[in-house]
Amino acid sequence: MKLLNRDSSDFLYQQIIEFIDGQQSQGLLRPGDKLPSLRKLSKQLEISVPTVKQAYIELERQGRVSARPQSGYYLQAQQVRTLQPRPSKWAGSKPTEVKCRSLIEQVHDAVHLPNSVALGISNPVHAHPPDKALARLMRSVISKYAEKAVSYGPVNGDAKLRMQLAYRYQEQGTVVNYQDMVITNGAQEALSIALQCVAEKGDVIAIESPCFFGLIELIESLGMKAIEVYTCTEDGVCLQELEKTLTKHPVKACLFSTAINNPLGSLMTNHQRQQLVALLESHDIPLIEDDAYGDLYFDGTRPKPAQLYSEKGLVLTCSSFSKTAAPGYRVGWLIPGKYEEQAKRIKRAQSCSTPMLQQWTLTEYLLSGEYDRHVAVLRKKLIYNCERMRALIAEHFPEETCISKPQGGSVLWVRCRSSVNTSDFFQDAIARGVSFAPGGIFSPSGKYRNYMRISFGVKWNDQIVQAVKALGELVKIQQEKQHN
Ligand SMILES: Cc1ncc(COP(=O)(O)O)c(C=O)c1O
Repeated sequence: MKLLNRDSSDFLYQQIIEFIDGQQSQGLLRPGDKLPSLRKLSKQLEISVPTVKQAYIELERQGRVSARPQSGYYLQAQQVRTLQPRPSKWAGSKPTEVKCRSLIEQVHDAVHLPNSVALGISNPVHAHPPDKALARLMRSVISKYAEKAVSYGPVNGDAKLRMQLAYRYQEQGTVVNYQDMVITNGAQEALSIALQCVAEKGDVIAIESPCFFGLIELIESLGMKAIEVYTCTEDGVCLQELEKTLTKHPVKACLFSTAINNPLGSLMTNHQRQQLVALLESHDIPLIEDDAYGDLYFDGTRPKPAQLYSEKGLVLTCSSFSKTAAPGYRVGWLIPGKYEEQAKRIKRAQSCSTPMLQQWTLTEYLLSGEYDRHVAVLRKKLIYNCERMRALIAEHFPEETCISKPQGGSVLWVRCRSSVNTSDFFQDAIARGVSFAPGGIFSPSGKYRNYMRISFGVKWNDQIVQAVKALGELVKIQQEKQHN
C-alpha cells in the first residue's frame, strides 16, 4: 500500500506525521494508544525504518508521543496535567495515633461487588493473568507431592523456593542467604513480622506520605504510631525531610516502599536508596523495605533492593508474588537482616507456615522460566494501560485535574480541586457501578482528601471507559456543589 507521495515537496517524515494525524482524526488512534512499531509502519508505508523513526522522534520532540524503552511509542493526551512535586506545601508532621477507618473496609468490599468495575484496588495481575499456566503447574504439583501438598510445611517455607529467590537476588548483586529467609503469607505478613521484630506497641514508625493504606492499618493493628515523611511524586521519600524528622522525633523504624511507591508510582534512584540506608544505619534505625512492586518498573533495569546497601543488617526486605503472579496464593517473603531468629519465632507464633501447594507451584513457575516471560509481558501491558488511563482521565475529568506519571506499578494518583473531598462521592460511585480509593485513606493525619487513586491494573474494555467517565462526572458534580 502506497500512502505517501514521494514527489511531494514535504519530507517523508512529515507525511508520516500527517498520516498519524489522519488516523487520529478518524478515531483509529486515540490518546494513550500505542503507535504501530517502526518495522510495521515502515512495511505498511513502504518506507525505511529510520524515516519512520525520524517521524516518531519529531512527534516526541513536539510532546505528542512518549517513548517507553523496550515497549514503543505512545500517543499522549495533549491535555494531561502531570502531578508535580510540591515540597513547599509540606507542613511537617507529627506522630499520629492511627485510627482504623471504615472507608478502607468499604474499598476492600467494593472489589467483590457484582457488576462493578473495581478501580480502587491495586491488582496489576488483572492486566495479564497467568492463571492457566499456574493451574497446569499446580495440577502437576498435586500429582507429584500427593498428600504432602496439603500438609503443614516448614516454618520458614520451602527450601527450594527460598534458594530460587536468593539466587534471583544474587543475580541483581545482592547476597542473600536462603537459610535466613522466611516465606510468608503475602508481603503483608512479611511486613507485620518485620515491624514486630524491630518495634513495640507505642513506638513511632516513619512512613511515606502518601502511603498505601494497608500499611497504615497494619501499624494501627500493632498499636504503633505513624509519622509521615514528605514523598516526592518523582523520586520517592525526601531524604532532607527524613533527616529533619529523625532529629525531632523518636523514630523506632522506617517502613518505606523503596522501589515503586503505592500510590505515587515514584521511584528512588539506586544512589538515593544507598544514601537512605547509610543515613538510617548511621542512626541505628532499621529500614523495613516494602519491595512488593520492585519487579514492575517501567523503564531501564530493576531497581536495586535497599538490602544491597546494608552494612549493619538493619534492612528487612519484604516482598511477594501478589503483584506479579498470584495475589490469591498469599506467598511472600522476608529477608530479615540481623533479625533472623525473631522473624522465625514470630512467623511460627503467628501463622505456623505458608501453604506448600502454592509455594511449590510458584517454584516450578520460576524454574521453568515462565515467570520471567510472564512478568516481561505484564510490564508492557501495564505501561500501555497506564498511558491509556491517563488519557482517559484527562478526557473525562475537569480540566484542572493533575495525574501522576508513575514509573512503575499499577495505579494513578489523581489530584482534584482542593475543595473536593473524594470520599464524599464514594457511595455515589458504587451506585454507578465503579469503585476507587479515596485519597484520605492514604494518610493517618487525613491529608489528600482531594485526591483519589485509580488502578490501571485492569483488562481493558468498554466498561472501564464508562467507569472512568462516571467518576469524571461525579468529580464535576462535586466541584459544582462546592462552587454554589
Ligand atoms: C505497597 C504494598 N505493599 C504491600 C502489599 C501487600 O501485598 P500482599 O498482597 O503480598 O500481602 C500491597 C498490596 O496491595 C501493597 O500495595
